[in-house]
Amino acid sequence: SRSFSSTISPESNRSSFGIAFDIDGVILLGSSPVGGSPSALRRLYDDSGALKIPFLFLTNGGGLPESKRASEMSHLLGVQVSPLQVIQAHSPFRKLVNRFENELVVAAGKGEPAAVMSNYGFKNVISMDEYASYFDNIDPLAPYKKLMFRQDGHKELRSREDVLSQRVQAAFIVSDPVDWSRDIQVLCDILRTGGLPGKEIGPQPHLYIANDDLDYQTEFPTERLGMGAFRIALESIFNRIHEKPLEYTSFGKPNPFVFKNAEDVLKEIATSPYSSNQGSHHFKTLYMIGDNPKIDIRGARQVLYSFSQTRVGHLAIKHSSNLTLNH
Ligand code: G3P
Ligand code: MG
Repeated sequence: SRSFSSTISPESNRSSFGIAFDIDGVILLGSSPVGGSPSALRRLYDDSGALKIPFLFLTNGGGLPESKRASEMSHLLGVQVSPLQVIQAHSPFRKLVNRFENELVVAAGKGEPAAVMSNYGFKNVISMDEYASYFDNIDPLAPYKKLMFRQDGHKELRSREDVLSQRVQAAFIVSDPVDWSRDIQVLCDILRTGGLPGKEIGPQPHLYIANDDLDYQTEFPTERLGMGAFRIALESIFNRIHEKPLEYTSFGKPNPFVFKNAEDVLKEIATSPYSSNQGSHHFKTLYMIGDNPKIDIRGARQVLYSFSQTRVGHLAIKHSSNLTLNH
């Protein structure tokens, strides 16, 4: 991203703008930094390591608690990233904690979905891996799958009877599901029975999906299927086996509230001890730098029309070349 680092000149506009960076396809491809992203990011810090330009990562990815993701990003990029600078697709789930604090909720997806949720304050959360393990024969394909033990910082085994008798109140797709066939099967079981697989009672529990990205960029030359593709698969199947259509709420970009929240967090960062220039929180322009026109650019454009006080610009990166800037 040579053109990226030369287009933004922090010195020219020290405190009047803030930046939200997409991660996948812009800063990282898989777990490798893209082009010059580490050196471009270094230019946003002063010599003491404080932020000259308030910035954050606004990703539809996830699977790790924000503090852990911040350490991982710091390690990969060689700059100090604070947890405040990491907004993931599932970050708004923390707002649902009052509703489900003590209810049984299932958390699905790669990484440590249950650790993410318990970090937000959910007290009775169980990972999909653990939940499925309590039901004999729930996944008829399990014997054909390579056994893998996935690390979830939240590992907490409970009694089988306890899990089998409690109704699941909500399912959260925290990050990209790993085992689509198992997860679609078990989610259909939970959702069509009212939270008790194998039984036939009750209305559909809540379903929350962290993002609705059809695809996203990794190291592979063409886009990979994302959580939005999983949602389409789940919804199509559920609607064929159940008379009432699937009800769900999806979060993440391009929902306007995600960008509004990013603006608030950028202001918080600008006035925090992480910034060298504390107090300068009136942004003239906020930049969203993303690679997905349907998600990042559409989202930034919508905000441009909804929140007129701060100008919103966006930089579109296609495979980290052909950079264009629009206001
Ligand atoms: O699963 C990650 C993907 O859906 C998008 O991540 O960083 O490009 O918003 P990002
Ligand atoms: Mg991206």
